This record gives sequence, structure tokens and C-alpha cells, in this order.
Amino acid sequence: MRENPLVLHVLGARPNFVKAAPVVRALGGLGVRQGIVHTGQHYDALMSDVFFADLGLPEPVANLGVGSGSHAKQTAALLVGLEEVVQEQDPDLVVVYGDVNSTLAAILVCAKLGVPTAHVEAGLRSFDRGMPEEVNRVVTDALADLLFATSPEALAFLASEGVHPSKVHLVGNPMIDSLFSALPKLDPAPVVARFGLPERYAVGTLHRPANVDTPEAAKELVDAVLAVSRQIPLVVPVHPRGKARLAEAGLVDGDSVRVIDPLGYVDFLSLVRGAALVVTDSGGVQEETTMLEVPCLTVRPNTERPITITHGTNRLVTPALLPAAAEKALADGAATPAGEPPVLWDGKSGPRIATVIAAWLKGDNLAPASQGKRQD
Ligand code: UD1
Ligand code: UDP
Repeated sequence: MRENPLVLHVLGARPNFVKAAPVVRALGGLGVRQGIVHTGQHYDALMSDVFFADLGLPEPVANLGVGSGSHAKQTAALLVGLEEVVQEQDPDLVVVYGDVNSTLAAILVCAKLGVPTAHVEAGLRSFDRGMPEEVNRVVTDALADLLFATSPEALAFLASEGVHPSKVHLVGNPMIDSLFSALPKLDPAPVVARFGLPERYAVGTLHRPANVDTPEAAKELVDAVLAVSRQIPLVVPVHPRGKARLAEAGLVDGDSVRVIDPLGYVDFLSLVRGAALVVTDSGGVQEETTMLEVPCLTVRPNTERPITITHGTNRLVTPALLPAAAEKALADGAATPAGEPPVLWDGKSGPRIATVIAAWLKGDNLAPASQGKRQD
């Protein structure tokens, strides 16, 4: 390895920023030279800048400004932009996060350029190839050199796809590191006051293509969400993807439903912390409600995060079943977890990942966690 090696983090979308912040901080603490490349997949201030500020992420060394488009157009722009910046920056390792199109493009570019890669949040599987994220996950894990898994079931999935266990490290969930760091700042009161919410309220986030991309799906979902809002006032910070279609389907700002812009990280989690119920189709929000012990109803037919269900805080629902499930969750009160939080969701995943990366940069071969030795 070269003297003073360089690690590049490729980030593009809202959940990437949350997962990367603890890794960047921990690598910085070890004195590793690093830089962030922002692909510009998300670009609105409320989808991007606010996360850099809230999470204390350093300024990117480059912003590719790829923006939005069909999968092919966006991925093509990502490939072209990333090939150039990776050649220019000449990193020793590129770290990619989660399952968005920026993740997929970065891993493909690096595989073709022969640049080693690490994937944070490896091995999650919904087994639903109709989800763009599932395709991105499978390809990313097939090509990554180092794989960091957030939960134990990922180890078996990766092994069954032929990923050698020596590449895989069970490190826990860096999204939970970010949550723990933010906890002292998570105060529902000011956000509740800003949006004129009562003391008891629910929060909704909805952006999956299957829920918001067609008028039919959006209508079915909005009808169900409005039925929930007749049980409890609901605040919905709307992801830009579904904004127009959900509004056309009848999700408009009113007394029992507050339809608002996306929120910054601290404001959003403050609201979630004080909520009686969360209705979502987000991946990350299923995990955050698990740790905050807020009842969560996930409007999806499956989840790549089954641990949130076995833990007892999350439940999958169809739109048709959502109102009755909400009634039950509200009657049951606070979520009762089935036991201890998921293994290694302890706020120390960033340092574990950084330790493995720093050792890898030095050429040390750390025993992977999949052989039973955790990288604490
Ligand atoms: C992407 C990820 C998804 C992730 C989500 C997190 C892919 C394939 N999907 O979905 O896995 O859960 O991010 O939020 O990568 N838009 C704006 N402003 C922005 C960003 C997007 O207006 O700053 C609008 C545009 O109309 C765009 C649409 O949202 O066409 C979708 O954006 P895109 O990044 O393609 O996918 P997401 O739905 O955000
Ligand atoms: N989030 C946020 N503001 C919002 C909605 C979500 O800060 O208005 C945060 C949320 O707490 C989590 C992340 O964004 O940390 C999840 O992103 P998203 O739901 O867009 O993506 P997914 O996790 O589904 O890929």
C-alpha cells in the first residue's frame, strides 16, 4: 500500500449521509486521509445540505451534480462522472453505502478501474427484485472487496451468493451510531410547536416507487393514510419523489394531516421520538423506530430488515390493513421490544468499520466477524 493512502466515500442520497457520518468521523480519528464525493443524486437543500450540517460531514471534494432521471439516464451520468473523479482522485479504497443508484454506479466504476471497494450495509435482502434497491444490493455485494454487515442474517445471505466469508465483517449498524450521536438534540417540543401539532400525533414518510409512482397505488395509499389521520393527527414530511402524485391522490395539508417539506435529520428524528406511531416505507426509519421504541407500520409487502419485525417494534402492512393496524398499535401504546436491541447496534459501528479499513490499508488481514471474531 502507498504511503498515506486515500479513502474516498461516494455518497449521493439522504440515507447515505446518515450511514457515512460515523465512518468518516472514526476514520478521521485514526488519521486516515479521506474525502467525500457527492454524486448529486439528491440535491435539494432539505435532501442534502441539511444532512451535512446536522451530521457534521466535511465538504465534499467533488460534487458531480448528476441529479434526477430514469434509472438508465441517472446511472449512466453517475458512471461517467464517477469514472472521471475516481481516476482524478486516485484512491486506495472507495467506500460505498446502502443500496441507491450512486452505490451501484460507484462499485461498477471501481470494479472496472481495479480500485478496491468496501460496502457498508452489505447483505440486506428483501428477495424482491422488483425493488431497484435489491438489484443494487446484489450487484454491489458481488463486486465489493470488503463487506460490512449490519445484522447477522446478512452473513448467510452473502455466503449463499458465493461471497467468501473472509471479506465479510459483522459490525452493527452505523445508522444507529448517528442516531445515538443525535439523541441529546432530539427534542420533539420545538418541532411539534412549529407545525402546530397536538401532544399525541403520528408521523408518516412514503417514497417507495411501488407506493407513489402510479395514480392507483398513490390513491390506495392516501386513502389509507387519511383513514389513519381520522384516528390521530398525522404529519407527513413529503419526499420529493411522491409529492405531486400524493397530492393528486388527495394528500393535502389540513387540520388532521400536516403535509410538510422533508425535514432535516435532527428535526425529523425529534418528531419520530415524540410520535405515538410511525407509518413508513423507508428502510432507515424501520431501524430508527426500533431503537427509539416507537411503533412502526411499514407499508410494504416485504422488508430487507426483518430484525426490526422480530424485535417487535415494526409490522408490515398493506394499505388496506393500515387503518386497522394503526388502531391496534395506538390502543397497545408504546412498542414493546422482544428483547435486547439487535446485536452490535450500540453506537460503535463506525469505529469498528474504521478499524477494519485502517488495518486493511496497512495490509493486515483481520479475521472476519463471520468466523465468530468481532472487530470490536
Ligand atoms: C433514492 C433511492 C432509494 C432511497 C431514496 C432515499 C435509488 C434507485 N433509490 O430514491 O433507494 O430510499 O433515494 O430517499 O437510488 N428529487 C427532488 N430533489 C432531490 C432528489 C430527488 O426533487 O433532491 C425528485 C426528482 O423528481 C427525482 C425523484 O425525486 O426524479 C426521485 O429521486 P431519485 O434519487 O431518483 O430516487 P429516490 O426516489 O429519491
Ligand atoms: N429522514 C429525514 N427527514 C425526513 C425523512 C427521513 O431526516 O423528512 C431521515 C431518516 O431519519 C433516516 C433517513 O432519512 O435517517 C432515511 O432516508 P429515506 O427514508 O429517504 O431512505 P431509505 O432509508 O428508505 O433508503
